[in-house]
Amino acid sequence: MRGSTPARRPGPGPRQRRTARGLAGWALLAIIALLAAGCGALDEPPVQSALEPAGPVARAQDQLWDIVFPVAVAVFVLVQGAIIFAMIRYRAPRDEATPPNQIEGNTRLEILWTIIPALILAGIAVPTVRTIFVQAAAPEAPLEVRVVAKQYFWEFQYEDPASGGTVFTATELHIPTETPVLLSMESHGLAQGEDPNGVIHSFWVPQLAGKQDVVPGHIRPLVIEADEPGEYSGQCLEFCGLSHANMLFTVVAQDQADFDAWLAAQAEPADSEGLEGQVAAGAEAFATAQCIACHAIDGYPVEGDPARVGPDLTHLASRQRFAGGVFETTPENLAAWIADPPGVKPGAQMPDLELDDDTIDALVAYLMTLE
Ligand code: CUA
Repeated sequence: MRGSTPARRPGPGPRQRRTARGLAGWALLAIIALLAAGCGALDEPPVQSALEPAGPVARAQDQLWDIVFPVAVAVFVLVQGAIIFAMIRYRAPRDEATPPNQIEGNTRLEILWTIIPALILAGIAVPTVRTIFVQAAAPEAPLEVRVVAKQYFWEFQYEDPASGGTVFTATELHIPTETPVLLSMESHGLAQGEDPNGVIHSFWVPQLAGKQDVVPGHIRPLVIEADEPGEYSGQCLEFCGLSHANMLFTVVAQDQADFDAWLAAQAEPADSEGLEGQVAAGAEAFATAQCIACHAIDGYPVEGDPARVGPDLTHLASRQRFAGGVFETTPENLAAWIADPPGVKPGAQMPDLELDDDTIDALVAYLMTLE
């Protein structure tokens, strides 16, 4: 057979080519649809977008984006445009037999495309570094809140201005508007209490500030501030265990007077005297069913220090959501939760205590009085 044309492998027929083009078209459509889905519902709460800042900290960070993004787009368009232009303009003709000229190195070009990106980066660094320094400085007269990340909820601790004691709450971080709030954040994991053991969490409420990792054994500061009263949704942004995705929280910004009233109400102990009927039975079950081994209720009689493994429940019913912000605080949701916590929130550390329905109903009746 020497000298004759070698047999060619049969290439794809017109049918296969059409199928391949069709598949590529569908894949492109799917990618565009996925990307477009990311743009949805920005105006409806909960808004979780750093591009809609609601306070000075987030706004300063967003202004950096306003500088960096157009520069990045310009670089992208220029570079990709040059590539596409070169591909089309210098495409070899189909019948060209000789390989193109081979070029090795071009000192002038290489210096140019090293210096231009360096200048762009240096230009971007000026406002970026300035913002970092401004935001690293401690604010004047901030409200200080201690934030403890636990598996899987956020605990918030305030100083009670009236008594100097500590007010505990969870999942709902109340702040006054137009006041810098200095969060001192730490992580407690499975080994609870004041043990520095834990896992890394990350605190992120996009409309108020960039994310800050919460690292075991360290106290990490973060300043947030809201201009207007409103609710700003946040979540844990660092994988911290099975229920990481269920570690949500809401920042509730209020006028100073409303905030003061809220804090004063939160500082009040719960009623533990004169309870009747199902509520009294629920209060009793709180101890006998061992809820008390993990949860504190201020005003509830307890020997020694109250346990703080799970969220403080003193004003549970005043919070819109519970269990790491996953469920609305309704009697039905509470009952379903107590009946089987890991069943309704995968990875939840609260065990199924195998309580009977009457006990659960009594507990729910009691918990719903804790406003
Ligand atoms: Cu906590 Cu992820």
